[in-house]
Amino acid sequence: MSEKATLEINGEKYEFPIVKGTENEVAIDIKTLRSATGGVITIDPGYKNTGSCESAITFLDGEKGILRYRGYSIEELADKADFLEVAYLLIFGELPSQEELDKFHSDIKENSVVDDDVKKILDAFPKSAHPMGVLSSLTAALTAFNPSSVDVESEEDMYNSIVRIMGKFPVLVSWAMRKKHGLPLEYGDDNLGYVENVLRMMFKNPNREYEQNPILIDALDKLLILHADHEQNCSTSTVRITGSSHAGLFVSLASGISALWGPLHGGANQAVLEMLEAIKEDGGDTKKYMAKAKDKEDPFRLMGFGHRVYKNFDPRARIIKKAADEVLGDLGVEDPILDIAKGLEKEALEDQYFVDRKLYPNVDFYSGIIYRAMGIPVEMFTVMFALGRLPGWIAQWREMRLRKEPIGRPRQLYIGENYRPFSPIEKR
Ligand code: SDX
Repeated sequence: MSEKATLEINGEKYEFPIVKGTENEVAIDIKTLRSATGGVITIDPGYKNTGSCESAITFLDGEKGILRYRGYSIEELADKADFLEVAYLLIFGELPSQEELDKFHSDIKENSVVDDDVKKILDAFPKSAHPMGVLSSLTAALTAFNPSSVDVESEEDMYNSIVRIMGKFPVLVSWAMRKKHGLPLEYGDDNLGYVENVLRMMFKNPNREYEQNPILIDALDKLLILHADHEQNCSTSTVRITGSSHAGLFVSLASGISALWGPLHGGANQAVLEMLEAIKEDGGDTKKYMAKAKDKEDPFRLMGFGHRVYKNFDPRARIIKKAADEVLGDLGVEDPILDIAKGLEKEALEDQYFVDRKLYPNVDFYSGIIYRAMGIPVEMFTVMFALGRLPGWIAQWREMRLRKEPIGRPRQLYIGENYRPFSPIEKR
């Protein structure tokens, strides 16, 4: 392949370097396009063909259904690692030694108390508030209680911000759920593992000790690993562009949480369950929903299906589908919704509309079935996605800051009015 790409505009030829990634992906480096051509830019709504950065964190191959964190396959990590190990790998680039992992966890525990005044902000929310809105607000509010986490330049300052949010975020997750259910706000127990601690903070009843269930611990650990990073998806790109103004880690994460909330992105796991429930209420009439999903006049989409990158099975969906059978079996939970989901998947995979558009189940299609079996309320499903994605967002923010990336500021193609003189109101 030639090392240059040539563009011809109005008879003029312009050359741009061709760059290759370590997995032989190819990109045209157009950093000099506008200056070389006297103002010509590219345009690509939704950035379907545009790379925003070079990154060494996560590799996806959408055609082959490959997902790797720092070179390790998602299948091996989900099977052999635990969530905090994967968080360390994503953020710092290598699997930790036992000593490194123990120090990371102990630094996180040192920072897992949230200022009591944050509860006053939480109190101001109505019980009806969606937990994603609460979580985004409280995450941003943490900046006010940890001002030194804003303008971080050194790796040490970044590390301190990172362990602060890794410690406090699970507390905010549990407070968002407990507030909604009228339960007193819990803190964790430093003697527990990271995931065990999350479960205890979420589910401990005030009148009895919380009994850990190894099935729930393993299921949540695996789900958090599967959600931990996914290269430049919508919410991660939001974290990177917010962080590129040096606005600070916590508010950059808060912007990512807001982007994740959308039903086209992380909010899909809640929308999938609501869709499956509606199909169940409709007597299991999957054909009606398939028809709605294909009807261009109908805004309804088959939630949990399709993906910007995967044009093959989402490897996470395969793992979660298998885990759903195992977890429900181990918990002795019979959930007709799982059968409806499998029926819907089978129909869609055989339907020409879905086949032609390479629409497959994505990470959100089965995850909610496991969350529900674990006793996690549906409005908390996307919050669990955010908890899993936290280390990925942190890793991407840290990479962007360490690489000293410029502030993100896309161009546009103006299609509005040409110059026109102001007209006084009496003449309009
Ligand atoms: C996540 O990017 C990531 O990595 C995200 C994520 C992560 O880990 O961060 O993987 C997590 O967000 C997974 C996606 C969760 N969202 C959903 O399940 C919502 C349903 N899916 C769709 O809305 C859609 O598939 C998207 C948003 C996921 C992707 O949209 P694209 O890439 O912009 O594709 P598109 O909208 O251009 O669709 C192409 C065609 C269109 O039909 P035509 O105009 O060609 O006739 O496929 C159709 C779409 O109408 N289509 C669907 C569909 N998804 C796409 N039709 C029915 N149901 C669907 N789900």
